[in-house]
Amino acid sequence: MKEIVLKDPLDMHLHLREGEMLKNIIEYTTSQFAGAVVMPNLNIPITTTELALQYREEIASGSKYKRFKPFLTLYITESMNEEELKHARSKGVKILKLYPKGATTNSQDGLNEIFTPHMLKICQIAQDMGFILSIHGETNGFSLDREYEFGKIFAKLAQDFPKLKIIIEHMSDHRSIELLETYPNIYATLTLHHITMTLDDMLGGGLKAHRFCKPILKTPKDRDMLLDLAINAHPKVSFGSDSAPHLEKNKLKDNASAGIFSAPMILCALATLFEKHNKLENLQAFISDNAKKIYNINDLDPKEVRLQKKHCWVPSQIKLIQNNIIPFNAGSLLEWTQII
Ligand code: NCD
Ligand code: ZN
Repeated sequence: MKEIVLKDPLDMHLHLREGEMLKNIIEYTTSQFAGAVVMPNLNIPITTTELALQYREEIASGSKYKRFKPFLTLYITESMNEEELKHARSKGVKILKLYPKGATTNSQDGLNEIFTPHMLKICQIAQDMGFILSIHGETNGFSLDREYEFGKIFAKLAQDFPKLKIIIEHMSDHRSIELLETYPNIYATLTLHHITMTLDDMLGGGLKAHRFCKPILKTPKDRDMLLDLAINAHPKVSFGSDSAPHLEKNKLKDNASAGIFSAPMILCALATLFEKHNKLENLQAFISDNAKKIYNINDLDPKEVRLQKKHCWVPSQIKLIQNNIIPFNAGSLLEWTQII
């Protein structure tokens, strides 16, 4: 039977949450990935090194895959300072996450404005200390133009801080691709949902709240151009699932939570997708090699994941004590199965 081996898979944008939720979902990722960039937007956001270290403990004790490496991120607030950044760096935290205030889940402590003297100082220190700056790049304008409108901010930051690596998280708009091509220090992560779906998959028929995420799904042109970057493993993009679980009741209520829980069997889903486009040979670069270069990752415990050409199904739901979580493409058939 046909097999492929993926070495050191990395998920460069992941929400592991906390408490009971974390315990119930973490192994969907740790069973597949050697490491992941773990987002800091918890109920109490990870704004200090102390909180990051506690979170690292919670992650380590939450999973039986002890070799899994979480790359922690620090949430940028108005009160972040140089001392905190030094402390973070000394403890191995090297990614800062910028949320515009109100842009997404738990972004209420994010920044109202980007070009303040405070933020410029943070960027200068981040550049000097070798941090990577990951940005949820959306304005509060019209939904379909939010990422595009934020493009000016990416461009200015990239010009003003040419040695600072800046990541356009979950790139969703084809108009952002130009930023990758123009600025040597701009990179991007791509999700499975933005490279396979459009707005119509969420609301073209009945409303599918489980496909509601930030940034919102966009047009066929956006999807196709982003898919092209992924399946050709463009060297400036890496895979970041943005797997973001929410309880079913919170996805179905008024003012529903944004986020797609895509972690279960996501490597099999990616293999199915890449094979469909005759690009299976580029999967390794997309899910690991590019990220290792962009983020200078050289301290992983090696992991080999073996996939076999055999059908498997995405689980239809994950049961928690109080409620369920519904995964991305719940119950659908995949062409590949993970065997180790
Ligand atoms: C994420 C979440 O739920 O934490 N939601 C989402 O729609 N992607 C946050 C984020 O990355 O925007
Ligand atoms: Zn996210």
